[in-house]
Amino acid sequence: MSSGIKPIVAGNWKMNGILQSSDQFEAMCDGAGNLGEHVDLMICPPATLIGLFSKMANGKSVGVGAQDCHTAELGAHTGDLSALMLKDAGAGAVIVGHSERRADHGEDDALVNEKARAAWSANLPAIICVGETETERKSGQELEVVGKQLSASIPDGATPDNTIIAYEPVWAIGTGMTPTAADVETMHTFIRKEMTDRFGAHGAGFRLLYGGSVKPANAAELMAVPNVNGALVGGASLKASDFLGIAGVYA
Ligand code: PGA
Repeated sequence: MSSGIKPIVAGNWKMNGILQSSDQFEAMCDGAGNLGEHVDLMICPPATLIGLFSKMANGKSVGVGAQDCHTAELGAHTGDLSALMLKDAGAGAVIVGHSERRADHGEDDALVNEKARAAWSANLPAIICVGETETERKSGQELEVVGKQLSASIPDGATPDNTIIAYEPVWAIGTGMTPTAADVETMHTFIRKEMTDRFGAHGAGFRLLYGGSVKPANAAELMAVPNVNGALVGGASLKASDFLGIAGVYA
């Protein structure tokens, strides 16, 4: 609901989803109706389901994305997946720098930056995640922390076509807590300014997503905040009715 930018609601299934879960994905594809005219829809399932879901999504208005990629295109990296492989399986974008990757795997901004460039090399847009911890917010450092993450995680060469930014305060992820609309506005205004300062006219076109405990009940308020161009949704993206309920605020 801002500025001619087409919003996107992306669902991050994290380490959830087995073959049986394709029922929910099918219901999303079938239930999306003409929503795709107003908002881009994407589900990032575990990599094991990308191939199946991308076939199911054929001709529908729900895209399929990946949750992470390696920095290299191929090689001796047991258990890892490259952006090329994810694209080959049917992914249309890849999340990089999610706070769970940063925390569980010690991923830092430099690695996230490299992963974003790996995504681009495979012609996949990168959804680059940033966000402060609870301690950082409590000590009033959230803008400084996010500012540093943005400058170090986003590679030079980012454009609105190859990069989406997701602001996800770590303390709001999976907790049911969200910042106030005013706090989201302060952060998203800040992120927009950082992007225009660095990328000039392009900066105005980046999609800036809010993520962290987005649900059908709070989506309308959060998505109405200036400079919020969609959502990155975890838990509530596992159920078709919730996911479509969130995306439905753009109908
Ligand atoms: P949540 O997760 O919606 O379950 O809070 C958000 C995310 O991690 O992207």
